[in-house]
Amino acid sequence: QNTVPVVKFKRNSKITCLKSSLQSIISPEIDNDSPPAQTRVKILSEALPFIQKFRGKTIVVKYGGAAMKSEALQASVIADIVLLACVGLRIVFVHGGGPEINQWLGRLNIQPNFLNGLRVTDASTMEIVSMVLVGKVNKHLVALINKAGRKLRRRAGGGIGAEKLILLTDVAGILENREDPGSLVKQIDIKGVKKMIKDGKVAGGMIPKVNCCIRSLAQGVRTTSIIDGRLKHSLLLEILTDEGAGTMITG
Ligand code: ARG
Repeated sequence: QNTVPVVKFKRNSKITCLKSSLQSIISPEIDNDSPPAQTRVKILSEALPFIQKFRGKTIVVKYGGAAMKSEALQASVIADIVLLACVGLRIVFVHGGGPEINQWLGRLNIQPNFLNGLRVTDASTMEIVSMVLVGKVNKHLVALINKAGRKLRRRAGGGIGAEKLILLTDVAGILENREDPGSLVKQIDIKGVKKMIKDGKVAGGMIPKVNCCIRSLAQGVRTTSIIDGRLKHSLLLEILTDEGAGTMITG
């Protein structure tokens, strides 16, 4: 008589259901549809060849965009780099200022200036920018990483002999056809990507990203990737699976 509506979860243990429903109330962003345990251990074991390949190698991760603005995405990026560091990859985490630089420039009534998607910074603006980056953003990120379990060594930039450069961006990667989100280019070499620029297929804010990859490859980085920072755990996906999470550009 008294019918109670039943909510079905993919996993049927009562505790899991309870946990999932609690999580979706507390934090709606946590997804309830993670695959069953068998699939998850399979994925974990498939990561082994990549862990072996990249152990001891330097992976540069350029962190910015959506992944930096949303707290949930920020937590997922931090968790990923801590995991990767724990299994022996040498992660160099390069970050921008996210929304904070513009916020502080705004407070001080300084107009941010952009040219072709790149920030143009004069000397007085630079003073604020470095105060925000060093005094606030970097401190905050280092604290988060240390809290998540890894003492971070700060490294000076440049000549670090990286295996891989990964740009966390606000796009899926390079699209063959900019109108079609399904046309992701999974892998391409320098020649191919230069042709895409020439043909106008790679344009706007994507050009400085691609150029950054081309320059890094020329300096000896083995592979570079432009990946989707709007996706949770896209770093793990890119590094530890065949499939990856965006476009890999090779030399
Ligand atoms: N995980 C492998 C690597 O890091 C393959 C990545 C492939 N990525 C891609 N976007 N096609 O080398």
